[in-house]
Amino acid sequence: MRRIIIAIDGPAASGKSTAAKLLAARLGYVYIDTGAMYRTCALAAKRCGLDINDDDALSQLMNTIRLDIEYHEEGNRTYLNGEDVSREIREPDISRLASAISAKAIVREKMVELQRRLGEKGGVILDGRDIGTVVFPNAELKFFMIAPVETRARRRYLELIEKGSNPDYDTVLSELEERDKADSSRALAPLIPAKDAICIDSGPLGIEEQVELLHSYYQTRIASI
Ligand code: CDP
Repeated sequence: MRRIIIAIDGPAASGKSTAAKLLAARLGYVYIDTGAMYRTCALAAKRCGLDINDDDALSQLMNTIRLDIEYHEEGNRTYLNGEDVSREIREPDISRLASAISAKAIVREKMVELQRRLGEKGGVILDGRDIGTVVFPNAELKFFMIAPVETRARRRYLELIEKGSNPDYDTVLSELEERDKADSSRALAPLIPAKDAICIDSGPLGIEEQVELLHSYYQTRIASI
């Protein structure tokens, strides 16, 4: 059976990564979390105290860091220069910095190149903001996942509690709103649905229902190729 490229884009905490991970396991595909890549760039910049508006310093950083993503069915592991940073990149300050650094051309250029290399052979599901519009505009199947901002904030709030943090709900909500606004209004690769993306509202759906729905679209699509 042909192994296609599946793109899942959408705003923060819209359920993309959980659905992508489960669908990948079901199809025997590799899941590529592109947000983790931008988060890792943000962590690298933070660690060396880099001003992300300093183009030369940022360019030097992007040319020297090593970023590896290891795919595992139970969840990807992300490495910065050989160190496992999978946990650290989920911190709220890294979410903010990832959004800021991902608006920079040099960063996007490098990450898009890496994502294309990892995905070009197919049999992959990538989630992000610009997969269906920029990274793989010819992806055979594209989804755009949405959910009301309060639902997304509640999910992120619970995720942070589960990880042992003590978040404030209103702060989580306002940070999600700010990040969506920045991601949607930036000049480069803004968060917008591709024309041929299937829009899914994950708000009323449980995770199993969500995966079932994506899978049914996959079956329809694969039958037509
Ligand atoms: O998990 P969450 O939805 O909160 O965010 P993420 O997918 O890990 O992405 C973190 C940030 O990276 C986003 O707010 C975007 O600014 C940026 N990003 C991007 O610009 N392009 C992508 N393909 C993926 C993420």
